Amino acid sequence: MLRKPFIAGNWKMNMTAESGAKLIEELKPLVKDANCDVALCVPAILIPAMVKAAAGSNIKIGAENVHWAASGAFTGEISAEMLKEYGVEYVIIGHSERRQYFGETDETVNKRLTAALAAGLKPIVCVGETLSERESGETEKVLYRQLAEGLKGVEDIKKIVIAYEPVWAIGTGKTATDEQAQETIAYIRKTLGELFCPKCAEKVIIQYGGSMNAGNCKGLMAQPDIDGGLIGGASLKLDFAKIVNFDK
Ligand code: 13P
Repeated sequence: MLRKPFIAGNWKMNMTAESGAKLIEELKPLVKDANCDVALCVPAILIPAMVKAAAGSNIKIGAENVHWAASGAFTGEISAEMLKEYGVEYVIIGHSERRQYFGETDETVNKRLTAALAAGLKPIVCVGETLSERESGETEKVLYRQLAEGLKGVEDIKKIVIAYEPVWAIGTGKTATDEQAQETIAYIRKTLGELFCPKCAEKVIIQYGGSMNAGNCKGLMAQPDIDGGLIGGASLKLDFAKIVNFDK
């Protein structure tokens, strides 16, 4: 298999230690025979409890953000080493909600990515256009910039997961069609080939994210360039297991 599928959840600012651990306990038997890699990215304060809940299973725990400095005067931030210390494997970087509400830029994405890679975390870098960017025909230009700037200086592109999340499809119930998602993700892969090397780009896992659910996951996952999903709302319930088992 050239690329092992990867289904990850993004809990965003949802769940409690109790409800999160309960969900993971219920998910464990349902996803144990998955043919894909499985992760849940959870709020920082829930990390220790969720790592404990997922212990011994095939569910890996991820964080939703990471700071670029190793330590220092950055009130409210969390470093890559701190995440590693608690058993975190993955980290989402540059989610559109962070770009939209918290001033994330391609430059800060790049700094966070560099720190995550140095600490041995597996970054899930989010890219995607807004509705107005798509409607004005700027999708490719925006994605090119996000990839070129966000991934600057990366030595081994295969260590990074890309999540293509069209902003207009997030939490709106409006999924990109299978064809739209495939076409855009193929563009992302081609661009990675140009920026890094075509052979390496063939090995990069690229997820789709944006209102992906148990009903539409099969069609999306059947597309040749779509290797997985980054799941928001549907990762807060047992439906997540149905997405993980998309191939059954
Ligand atoms: P929804 O699946 O809720 O649309 O969220 C997608 C997302 O932003 C995952 O990171």
